[in-house]
Amino acid sequence: MSDFVIVNEVGPRDGLQSQGKTLSVDERLRLIEALLNSGIRHIEVGSFVSPKAVPQMAGTGELFAGLALRNEANYSALVPNLRGYELAREAGARSIAVVLSATETMNQRNINMSLEQTTSVCAQLMQRAREDGIDARAYVAVAFECPFEGLTPPEVVEALARRMFEAGAGKVIVADTIGAANPQSVKRVLERLTGVDAASMLSCHFHDTRGMALANVLAALEFGVREFDSSIGGLGGCPFSPGATGNLATEDLVLMLQSMGLHTGIDLDRLVAAVEQAQLLTSTTLGGHSYRWLHRERNKRQEVANG
Ligand code: COA
Ligand code: ZN
Repeated sequence: MSDFVIVNEVGPRDGLQSQGKTLSVDERLRLIEALLNSGIRHIEVGSFVSPKAVPQMAGTGELFAGLALRNEANYSALVPNLRGYELAREAGARSIAVVLSATETMNQRNINMSLEQTTSVCAQLMQRAREDGIDARAYVAVAFECPFEGLTPPEVVEALARRMFEAGAGKVIVADTIGAANPQSVKRVLERLTGVDAASMLSCHFHDTRGMALANVLAALEFGVREFDSSIGGLGGCPFSPGATGNLATEDLVLMLQSMGLHTGIDLDRLVAAVEQAQLLTSTTLGGHSYRWLHRERNKRQEVANG
């Protein structure tokens, strides 16, 4: 089994969309630059959604124009509907992600569509993406628990994942939007999904709300999953989902993977610099469980290097 794990950084989207402070396009670019400097090569940079619904994500088109100068990573954008898809394509996005929530209420709250409508729109978007040569991935949100409807049955997640693969999704991302999963429930869902398709077609998105994100990553690794979303400094949440607080912090994920002998291509000292940049830009205190320790170790090394 591969010892390389793809870390898909979602701070610039999932992280920033719920911040009280809205960053300018220039500031968002600076955050992405710090992430690139750490070796991160997969970044969800923003979303093409209604600026009335999520003002923090306005200007994602301009962001893509700025990123054309640093054409060194896989930049992806979230799109909720055909309009978002067109905007992403016009902006030059080579990779998109659609979002399907596993429950009726969450779809309504998030994108004002029923589950059936959302499923059909997502399938259409994936078809369009295939025709246009754009990579398309599908999130199944609230895959473990919904803040409005409670526990999500694994068979519902399986059925939705199946629909998305049939529609041409390159990957299905199992998303624990409110951080309610535990290693057992991860196992229950992945047992079904690895039957639908190989683990290489799956990715996981965990929030650390109840402190179980890394345990959940370990459960998924054991199923062969080699791609995870995470957010720098644990930045994040979802504005439409009560209780969705910090994402799994990228530095926690990378530290655990590297400690286990898995490779990510990411430099931890530079990741610490990216957390510092994120704190500066958002004017908040960030950092995963390991941040203080990583920060101290980095400073010690720098002192030695500077004599
Ligand atoms: N990008 C930009 N603007 C969009 C858009 C998109 N993808 N889709 C619709 N709009 C605009 C419409 O042009 C319209 O603008 P107007 O009021 O100036 O005429 C307005 O948004 C409402 O359009 P409508 O089709 O009636 O959408 P809605 O009000 O039912 O909202 C969404 C649906 C999907 C656009 C909205 O709920 C949304 O953007 N949600 C984002 C959710 C999100 O990002 N969640 C976090 C990630 S999971
Ligand atoms: Zn999330």
